[in-house]
Amino acid sequence: MAEANNIQLVERFPDAGDYCRLRSEAGMSPKTLQAARKGLPNTLYGVSLQVDGEVIGMGRIIGDGGCFYTVVDIAVAPAYQGRGLGKRIMTALDTWLRQNAEPSAYVTLVADGEARHLYAKYGFVETAPASVNMEYIVAPHAPE
Ligand SMILES: CC(C)(COP(=O)(O)OP(=O)(O)OC[C@H]1O[C@@H](n2cnc3c(N)ncnc32)[C@H](O)[C@@H]1OP(=O)(O)O)[C@@H](O)C(=O)NCCC(=O)NCCS
Repeated sequence: MAEANNIQLVERFPDAGDYCRLRSEAGMSPKTLQAARKGLPNTLYGVSLQVDGEVIGMGRIIGDGGCFYTVVDIAVAPAYQGRGLGKRIMTALDTWLRQNAEPSAYVTLVADGEARHLYAKYGFVETAPASVNMEYIVAPHAPE
């Protein structure tokens, strides 16, 4: 297991292969390689955590660059969780937002389970019941 000081934060989002692998390792819903190849180049700002070149963490911001921003794909590989790395990722994204987003920008995310405690540290507040997240997957059972 790498020490925390051997874990490097790189201001670049993982490539599509590492992205799909890390989502799966972290227990997140799968994305096809094709979806990742289409979507990742539209990232406004993203970071990776690397150990000896291996990607073990990630997070990114998408949006219109003016009015609306969404924080997505926050993940740390299970073997490295609980050591402050989620905070390292969120600190980088929060710093970028505070430096680059307009004062009126609306920043949102969907917090899964206990991850809401992480986001609360960066000023995110729950919107329910006034507003609730609504969603659908385009074709959940389609072949990849
Ligand atoms: C969520 C995730 C990114 C957090 O990364 P991490 O490196 O484990 O988080 P950290 O060690 O930096 O902890 C950050 C804070 O989050 C909170 N937190 C994280 N997991 C928590 C849990 N299971 N229960 C309660 N609080 C939790 C704590 O408040 C913690 O701060 P503290 O140690 O100062 O109290 C990581 O657990 C993960 O990848 N999970 C699977 C994928 C996922 O659910 N991603 C989020 C999608 S919304």
